[in-house]
Amino acid sequence: AATVKELYAGKGKYLHQRIQINGWVRTLRSSKTFGFIELNDGTFFSNLQVVFDENLANYKEVSKLITGSAIKVAGQLTESPGAKQPFELKAECIEIEGLSAPDYPLQKKRHTFEYLRTIAHLRSRTNTFSAVFRIRSVAAYAIHKFFQENGFVHVHTPIITGSDAEGAGEMFRLTTLDFDKPPRDEKGAVDFTKDFFGKETNLTVSGQLEAETYCMAFNKVYTFGPTFRAENSNTPRHAAEFWMIEPEIAFAGLRENMNLAEDMLKFIVSYVLENTPAEMQFLNSFVDKSLLERLTNIVKSDFGHLTYSQAVEILKKSGEQFEYPVAWGIDLQTEHERYITEKHFGKPVFVTDYPKEIKAFYMRLNDDGRTVAAMDLLVPGVGELVGGSQREERLDYLSKRMDELGLNKEDYWWYLDLRKYGGVRHAGFGLGFERLIMYLTGMTNIRDVISFPRTPKNAEF
Ligand code: 4AD
Ligand code: MG
Repeated sequence: AATVKELYAGKGKYLHQRIQINGWVRTLRSSKTFGFIELNDGTFFSNLQVVFDENLANYKEVSKLITGSAIKVAGQLTESPGAKQPFELKAECIEIEGLSAPDYPLQKKRHTFEYLRTIAHLRSRTNTFSAVFRIRSVAAYAIHKFFQENGFVHVHTPIITGSDAEGAGEMFRLTTLDFDKPPRDEKGAVDFTKDFFGKETNLTVSGQLEAETYCMAFNKVYTFGPTFRAENSNTPRHAAEFWMIEPEIAFAGLRENMNLAEDMLKFIVSYVLENTPAEMQFLNSFVDKSLLERLTNIVKSDFGHLTYSQAVEILKKSGEQFEYPVAWGIDLQTEHERYITEKHFGKPVFVTDYPKEIKAFYMRLNDDGRTVAAMDLLVPGVGELVGGSQREERLDYLSKRMDELGLNKEDYWWYLDLRKYGGVRHAGFGLGFERLIMYLTGMTNIRDVISFPRTPKNAEF
């Protein structure tokens, strides 16, 4: 069997040849004597037009096929008289492999994304989701390619961990408790500290701290894995389970970190534009009319840079009525981030040097004593895409900060060891993979860029 991808890539090579294609019926039109099938074989965004007529042995069955049915078609590939496609398949034989039932939930009309979320097991058969999820796959490949070609070592950091990488407490606790006979303390209360075979553990919120340990051995590393946040928030940008790319570089500071993020993002965008042109064209027509222009521009533009304090000044002077009032010290909200990147700059911007109170314990304290060497990358349409920092490599400063925040240093003994045994300046960041896919596709809800979204009360599939 050939694939539709090969037909398109072959540039006429398969014309007038006998081939076989296996796929699923997207649409079917038929009359008494002939019919057309739009067949999608999964290998290529576009469908293949199949023409059949009453000479087929099973013409009756074929002409009544329901959308979604799986078939194998053998026949001649010929030039198509229609303008919509370069070629079509003149069927000589159609074998029905799997019938679809009459209540097939995907109709020819356009369905809303909300409805398609309720049938997440079938939505990848629609044009939009076929485009989104192929782009997701290609983007993941581009990320590995970028890091591997630039000398980074891929580290697999743990999913189950005893540490809280962000110190923010938004963790899913793990349990092996026997709910019928849970361990109890002297007073008879359930002892949750004994939950993972006797140790307190959670699902990781970030692979950063473990990645830092490998950075002190390999110089340049990255992790790319699932992360989990137990935040009970219903927004279009937050999921309880999402994937994160986290590079970490040694003998480097915030400047190198920002350059890395910019180079990486430009590489991914170029790679995806080059390798999924049909999908991009489709999304540009049906999902976001400014998508291609925006993405082509960012590859050429230099990203903006400003400090948190400058951002606050811009927001104060903007004359905008923000829902959340602006003052030095606040955590920037999505509305603020989007104003800065969309209205003020019109391109991706790095905001640096945030107040230490609103950032994680591991960020390096600046000389002013009140800000840290943090960087967030804000992009139009999404807001915060990347969060990162230069790490505090000075053991005394780090210990002091952990004490101030009430963190238990015994839990982080191995992390502190890194500062004791040949610690160096280093920096890194986390790129939210779903936010990246939103940025690359123009989709506006995180539920529509991850195959089976985990958001509050949403774990059916
Ligand atoms: O800013 P965050 O929380 O940073 C960290 O976790 C650092 N440890 C990263 C590092 O320096 N290695 O998260 C990083 C990015 C955010 O910028 C955002 O894109 C994404 O992860 N993100 C989420 N994406 C979807 N749903 C959520 N609940 C997310 N929380 C963060
Ligand atoms: Mg952040």
